[in-house]
Formats: sequence, C-alpha cells, structure tokens
Amino acid sequence: MGREMASAFARWCALTDVDVKPELVAIADLVEPVREWFRCIPSCQQFTDDYKALLANPAVDVVYVAVPHNLHQQIYIDVLEAGKDLFAEKPYGIELSAAKKIFEAGQRTGRFVRCSSEFPFFPGAQRALQAATSGKLGRILQVVSGFHHSSDLDATKAANWKRFSRTCGEIGVLGDLGMHACHLPLRLGWKPTRLFAQLQKGYPERPDGKGGMAACDTWDNAMLHCWTNIEGQEVPMRLEMKRMAPGETNSWFIEILGTEGGVRYNTKEPKTLWLFEGGKEQYWKRTDLGFGMPFKTVTGGIFEVGFPDVIQQMWAAYLMEREGKLNGRFGCATPEEAVGTQEIFAAALESQKTQQVVTLK
Ligand SMILES: NC(=O)c1ccc[n+]([C@@H]2O[C@H](COP(=O)([O-])OP(=O)(O)OC[C@H]3O[C@@H](n4cnc5c(N)ncnc54)[C@H](O)[C@@H]3O)[C@@H](O)[C@H]2O)c1
Repeated sequence: MGREMASAFARWCALTDVDVKPELVAIADLVEPVREWFRCIPSCQQFTDDYKALLANPAVDVVYVAVPHNLHQQIYIDVLEAGKDLFAEKPYGIELSAAKKIFEAGQRTGRFVRCSSEFPFFPGAQRALQAATSGKLGRILQVVSGFHHSSDLDATKAANWKRFSRTCGEIGVLGDLGMHACHLPLRLGWKPTRLFAQLQKGYPERPDGKGGMAACDTWDNAMLHCWTNIEGQEVPMRLEMKRMAPGETNSWFIEILGTEGGVRYNTKEPKTLWLFEGGKEQYWKRTDLGFGMPFKTVTGGIFEVGFPDVIQQMWAAYLMEREGKLNGRFGCATPEEAVGTQEIFAAALESQKTQQVVTLK
C-alpha cells in the first residue's frame, strides 16, 4: 500500500482544484527490496528500517502507516506522540481496545488523524451517497453493503500475516475488509443497533513458504445481519466481507432500496450506476458514469475511473481537510468512524461465540 500511495503523489499534477501538494520525503520498511523501490521517487531522501528515525525527521509532517494489524497501536501512537499527523490504515488497531487507545492518543495530542478507505471516492459510491441523502428514496426498506474478493480461494497460496489471529487480529476478515463495508453506512448515520453474525473460516492450513505447512486460524468470510435505525424506522442492513468469494477479484458494493427509489453500485462494473424509480410501472435505470470525482482532474469527464484514481482522491481529501479546505466534499474516515467499525466487529465476534443477536451500545 505504501507504493500505491507514493505513485498517487507522483501524478499529483492530474488534480486541478487541490492546492496542497504532498512530497514523499522519507520511508521506513524492514525489508530492503521494499525500501529500494522508493529510490525511484526523487523527493525521497530517507530510507530507513527504523520507523523511529523517520519520526525524528523534522521534514516529515504527515505519516501514512501500512503495517500488519498487531503493530497499529504502537506505531500509530508513536507517530502521534512524535508530533506528526497520522493517516492510519484500517482496521485502526488489532481490536476494539487498541482502536480506543489510538483514538485517545489522537485526542490527547491534538493531531489530525484520518483512516484510509478509498472506495467511497468512486463516482458510483458518491452517487449512492447522494441518492441516500436526497430524500427521494422514500422509506428505506433495506441496505446491503460489502466487499468481496477471492484471493484466499487458492489453497496453495502461502500463508502471510493476514492468516493468523496473532497478527491480523481475532476479527480476521472483519478487520481486513470491514471498513470498506461499514464506511458509507456509518457516514450516513446507519450504525447497527443489533446484529447476528455468521463467520466462516477458510483453509485450516496453508504452505508456510519454507517447505512446511502453517496452521491458519482467522475468519475469512463474514455476513453481519444487522438492524439499523433510519428516520425512526428499524431497517434491515447486511454487511458482507469475504476473502473467499468465488469469481470476485475486488468488488465493493452498496445497495439501498426504498419505497420510492433505490440505488445499486458495484465496482465490478465501475461505470454502471443503477437507479430505481417507483410508480405505476417500476424501472431500474442503468447509467454510464464518467469521471465524476469529488476533486477535479485533467481527465475528461467521459473516461473510466480505477483504483489508483480513488487512492489519489482519498489523499486529496485527507490533505485538503487537514488544511480546512474540504468545502463540503467527501472526507476520509474519521477516528470516530474507525472506532465505530471496531464496535461492530467486537459485537460480531460476541454474536458468533454466543450464536445470539447482540445489541450494540
Ligand atoms: N486501503 C486498502 O485498500 C488496503 C489494502 C491492503 C491493505 N491495507 C491495510 O494496509 C496495512 C498493511 O497491509 P499490506 O497489505 O500493505 O501489508 P504488507 O504485508 O504488504 O506490507 C506491510 C509492510 O510493513 C512492513 N513492516 C512491518 N513491520 C514494520 C516495522 N516495524 N517498521 C517498518 N515497516 C514494517 C513490512 O516489511 C511490509 O513491507 C494493513 O493495515 C491493511 O489492512 C489497506
């Protein structure tokens, strides 16, 4: 993810209404070949295996941290205590208690903190958000929000840190993909009030990459059957996170159905927005979307959007909000939202354990 972010900075000239320009000046990684890649970025002057050396660098204002989940709490809090602003990665700590400690450190130090979640910057996601807040959907009947991939269907793929509870967290796929499923519902104020979780494990062991096998213990798929409260009504909402979804490479999706209208968007067909119109006859209207980004770019309005584009938009939002220049555009996931996701994950683990519906506080 570090390299993905660096490449978004490298083509910052694509943005036409953003007057903040990031410059990558330092990177820290334990692995030399990873550090070496960053030598292609001319502004990068510090290449270290010691992140504390990076934190001591006065040229660094903002630190983006993408490390395994067991390291989030320590490194995020060290960043904040070093007086730097933080762009955190999800899930914002290995578990709820870690997320709360990171939250407190943000409050205590007064630094600017946001959490990475890029999919809501897709034009289709922005249109879904507009539809949900337009008042034109009538009474909301149902919400589905999720993220599916199939990277873990291949049983011969070697285990990495995401396969073990000790490094990925007991929350497993919830921590890995949950922010993607929860971000828009939370931004809309649709936090689950109650939920029932179905969590599922994948392969119990995988090659360890050294000729042996490693025991894998994390949840790979999660279906959270929730209730939420929308304008005084209890509404069913399903949050889906899957690392073993046959046929899916990386599909973020949302569907909001109301009595008078509805909206459906899936990055599997990134140009396609479906809008429902009720009435005597009912229609699902298919619209081809163009490059309708929150932050304007040199790219013509008819062209297609991709993952690197939304990563760049997310950074534009982070940096502009940090300068107080968001001006009503969509902002990155807040620390409150990040802690909110972890509250959902903790309730899901409890539900899985007790096989009961769990009420969220
Ligand atoms: N927003 C997204 O779409 C997205 C996608 C993938 C991963 N992520 C998140 O990014 C984070 C990292 O995931 P990843 O897939 O990039 O993992 P990764 O294993 O590919 O990369 C992690 C990097 O951290 C380095 N590292 C580990 N310990 C370190 C330390 N003490 N100091 C410096 N560097 C250290 C490793 O050497 C490695 O290069 C996780 O929180 C994950 O959930 C987000």
